[in-house]
Amino acid sequence: MLLNVENLHVHYGRIAALRGISLNVAEGEIVCIVGPNGAGKSTTLLSISSVLSPTEGEISFDGKSIIGTPPEQVATLGISQVPEGRHIFTSLTVDENLQVGAATRNDKDRVRQDYERVLDMFPILAERRRQSAGKLSGGEQQMLAIARSLMTNPRFLTIDEPSLGLAPRIVDQVYEVLVDLRKSRGLTLLLVEQSSERALKAADRLYVLRSGEIQLEGKTADLQDGKAVHEAYFGFTHQHDEDEVEF
Ligand SMILES: Nc1ncnc2c1ncn2[C@@H]1O[C@H](COP(=O)(O)OP(=O)(O)O)[C@@H](O)[C@H]1O
Ligand SMILES: [Mg+2]
Repeated sequence: MLLNVENLHVHYGRIAALRGISLNVAEGEIVCIVGPNGAGKSTTLLSISSVLSPTEGEISFDGKSIIGTPPEQVATLGISQVPEGRHIFTSLTVDENLQVGAATRNDKDRVRQDYERVLDMFPILAERRRQSAGKLSGGEQQMLAIARSLMTNPRFLTIDEPSLGLAPRIVDQVYEVLVDLRKSRGLTLLLVEQSSERALKAADRLYVLRSGEIQLEGKTADLQDGKAVHEAYFGFTHQHDEDEVEF
């Protein structure tokens, strides 16, 4: 396994956000964690990038523990994260945002190649590369956030809610790019989403997280009818209104 998370507990003060979750991602896999708001999805990703320190448990990448490793150093191992809400620099141009992604790299020739490749992959960013990133649409900003992460030349990319706030057609485009990244670069992906719909289509495996615990895990091929995912997502005892939640 490229990433291995074992019995991870994370607290904010006395509040337990993760209560002993275990998950793994194999090289070349696309894995998605789905769960409702407050489930602990962002906490999981922030722990993997070492921004948060667990109170208990183990995270290893490529066979080595990353617990206690500073986030900058975790990035040099090849782990890159697109945070929730994208966090691009809106006052900088598209080009400058991409340069920020490559700022810590010394292999300038490869940076140049990656830059060309990223612009090939996202023609809309190529067109707008001298424009202020703040002028881009939500979908374009998501593309830029992904492109900037790719400029770190990662082995493993995590994305917190790639479809957040985007129109369905734009979400389709973002997912096309993600699936293509695995195919063309062998990139390994761990995605987090509130809805399981896209995950069931694009991911190889899926985990359902609720209340800081993994409720279900499986191959998406075995979960296509959505029933088990639905039950894990809402809890077996929870009665809900069919119209209440876009699921
Ligand atoms: N900075 C924080 N301080 C205190 N509690 C937090 C903080 N961030 C998240 N939490 C709590 O931790 C739990 C998990 O949050 P989070 O990982 O953001 O969930 P998700 O990303 O699935 O919506 C929630 O109960 C949330 O209220
Ligand atoms: Mg979140």
